[in-house]
Amino acid sequence: MDIKGLAVIVTGGGSGMGAEVARHLAKAGAKVAVLDINKANVEAVAKEIGGLGIECDVTSDESAKAAFATARAAHGPVRVLMNCAGIAPGARVVGKDGPHDLGFFSKVIGVNLVGSFNMLRLAAAEMSTLDTLNETGERGVIINTASVAAYEGQIGQAAYSASKGGIVGMTLPAARELARFGVRVVTIAPGLIGTPMLLGMPQEVQDSLIATTLFPKRLGLPEEFAKLALHVIDNALINGETIRLDGAVRLAPK
Ligand SMILES: NC(=O)c1ccc[n+]([C@@H]2O[C@H](COP(=O)([O-])OP(=O)(O)OC[C@H]3O[C@@H](n4cnc5c(N)ncnc54)[C@H](O)[C@@H]3O)[C@@H](O)[C@H]2O)c1
Repeated sequence: MDIKGLAVIVTGGGSGMGAEVARHLAKAGAKVAVLDINKANVEAVAKEIGGLGIECDVTSDESAKAAFATARAAHGPVRVLMNCAGIAPGARVVGKDGPHDLGFFSKVIGVNLVGSFNMLRLAAAEMSTLDTLNETGERGVIINTASVAAYEGQIGQAAYSASKGGIVGMTLPAARELARFGVRVVTIAPGLIGTPMLLGMPQEVQDSLIATTLFPKRLGLPEEFAKLALHVIDNALINGETIRLDGAVRLAPK
C-alpha cells in the first residue's frame, strides 16, 4: 500500500518506537495522527512532524472513539493503525509481599492487550466501509506491537508476557476475519529496542539482556522498528503473521 497521502493513527506515539514510526510515516508523506496518554509528549511529537497530536487512553472506549473522530475530521478515514502504546512493569507471581497483585495484572492486560484490541476494532470498522485503494483490493493495514516476551518471558513478566501473547494470538483470527474487507493485520514482536522503556532499566539488566542477543550484539534501534513497520504497510503479502525483530535474542529465565 502506498502510504503517501493516507491517514494514519499511531498509538503510544509520544515516545519510543511509536514516535519513531510517526516520524518515518510523516517523512513518507502520510497524514499522521499521534495518540498517547501523555499529552505533553504527544503534542511535542505532533509539532515536530507536522501531524496531529491527540491525548488518548487506549483502554477507554470513549477516549478511543473520540480520538478516531478527531483524526477523521482532520485527515479523513484511517487507512493504517499502528498500535504501539504499552507498559512493561514487572512483578513476580509470588513476591516479597505475597501473591502478585491482581489489579496490577489486570492493568497490564488492560493497556497492552485490551487497549490494542480496542483500537484494532475501531480501525477495522472504519476501514471496512471505505473504497479499495489499489488493484490488490487493500482497504487498510493494522499493525500491533507484541514482544519476544510473548514467547520466552522472563521471571517477573507473567502479566507482560500474557498481554503480548494475547496480541500474537489475536493476529491470525483478526486477519482471517478482515481479509474479506482487504484489511491486513500484522504484529511485530520486537526484542530489545533502545527506547525510554528499556533504557529506564538498570544498566546491569540491559547488559544481561544484550548478552543473550545473537547478532548484532546491541540494543535495537527505534528506527529499525520503524523501517519494518513501513515495509509491512508497503508489502501486501505480509498478513496474519507475527514477525520477530530481535537479532535472534532468546530471553533467559532472568
Ligand atoms: N523497548 C523495547 O525493548 C520493547 C520490546 C518489546 C516490545 N516493546 C513494546 O513496544 C511498544 C512501544 O514501547 P516503547 O519501548 O516505545 O515504550 P515507551 O515507553 O517509550 O512508549 C510507550 C508509550 O505508550 C504510552 N502509553 C502507555 N499507556 C497508554 C495508554 N493507556 N493509552 C495511550 N498511550 C499509552 C506511553 O505514554 C508511552 O508514550 C510497547 O507496546 C512495548 O511493550 C518494547
